[in-house]
Amino acid sequence: MGWWWWKPDLNLSITRRDLPPYSLTSYFSLSCQMPRIAVIPGDGIGVEVMKEARRVLAALDDTETLDLELVDWDLGAERYLRDGVAITEEEFRALADDHDAVFLGALGDPRVPGMEHIKAILLGLRFKLDLYVNFRPCVLPLARLSPLTGIQKPFRIDIFRENTEGLYTGLGGSFKTGTPDEIAIEKDLHTRKGVERIIRAAFEYAKLRGRGRVTLVDKANVQRFVGGLWRKVFEEVGEAYPRISQDSMYVDAMAMDLVRRPDHYEVLVTSNLFGDIISDLAAVVTGGLGLAPSANIHPGQYALFEPVHGSAPDIAGQGLANPIGAIRCVSLMLEYFGYEHLGDRIEEGVLASIENGITTPDLVGGKSSTEEVGRWVASYVESESA
Ligand code: NAD
Ligand code: IPM
Ligand code: MN
Repeated sequence: MGWWWWKPDLNLSITRRDLPPYSLTSYFSLSCQMPRIAVIPGDGIGVEVMKEARRVLAALDDTETLDLELVDWDLGAERYLRDGVAITEEEFRALADDHDAVFLGALGDPRVPGMEHIKAILLGLRFKLDLYVNFRPCVLPLARLSPLTGIQKPFRIDIFRENTEGLYTGLGGSFKTGTPDEIAIEKDLHTRKGVERIIRAAFEYAKLRGRGRVTLVDKANVQRFVGGLWRKVFEEVGEAYPRISQDSMYVDAMAMDLVRRPDHYEVLVTSNLFGDIISDLAAVVTGGLGLAPSANIHPGQYALFEPVHGSAPDIAGQGLANPIGAIRCVSLMLEYFGYEHLGDRIEEGVLASIENGITTPDLVGGKSSTEEVGRWVASYVESESA
């Protein structure tokens, strides 16, 4: 690996003008005075990346005097193992009622194989607060970061994942459990209301952000009822957006195409499980899971920001975790609360760190630690503010 790895490919580098910004658009943002944000670092690398995300936020706060209040919440596997409860009813109510948003690192610990605390906290927030939009922007800032050969230019794919239905409701059960005749059923639940609102969110985003195409991802050839509902509603909602081109694709073919020609797509809208799967795939073709942020939103009410990745027990505690996904969540969060220009500045800092070779080892040639990347981006945003 020679020095040239880190020569910025200037021809391919972007400015914010070339690539639509992260912004969630006014449709999703929330204006409120002095938003209160609950910060839950969680487990594994969640703790490490959140430290850096907070460092970047603090660097901005030093120069910009942000009207944000951060409240630390000690929730995660440790707490669950210690107390036998992941989050009490009162704590949940306090999270929901006394805060405007949650900023979460990651949850997941091999010592909690039943994922009880993930279900109570992460899925609990998504479901009980009805955070039906899971917005997962996958942005490739430099062509050379993609593991795919043949990618010539930066591009982005914006995924709108339905976040409150599908195979995630926990409805189902098992029968004759533990016998050779055991039966397991997991219900795949889709409502017209649920399908309609996520499709509308995807179209609104495309319209407001000037994106030319929305693609529905489903498995309508096998899921006749569910697929039928999604296709019908997609067509109906799409009628209000005649200037946006609209098509649908089976999820297996989409998985293939996301590897073959990911830059062919713009906005994808899909159900909960398919969205979970294709967002990891889209994240990796746009540079890596460690770069991808997400926002779980009920427009006008509440939001939960979290990187797309999990707690990565395989690399936890070694300073190897890429903090950019979490740092980009700060970007999304600031944009959500109306500080769009600051979100932009973080994005510039992220891009500059990559161009200068300050990256963790998950990006080819990266030799920096989680903390070094965080410090670099923090000092970039601070100096740009001065
Ligand atoms: P994972 O996302 O934690 O890790 C998958 C792979 O990507 C691992 O090899 C990991 O080292 C790598 N990776 C992930 N994030 C990275 C980063 N920031 N920098 C560098 N490399 C990174 O997925 P998993 O291993 O399937 O899950 C681990 C635990 O996390 C499980 O308990 C799972 O349920 C949980 N999980 C939680 C969330 C969440 O809290 N939102 C999301 C996904 C998985
Ligand atoms: C994600 C995660 C979660 C999901 C898990 C941890 C429940 O993979 O946020 O992508 O499946 O939604
Ligand atoms: Mn996932």
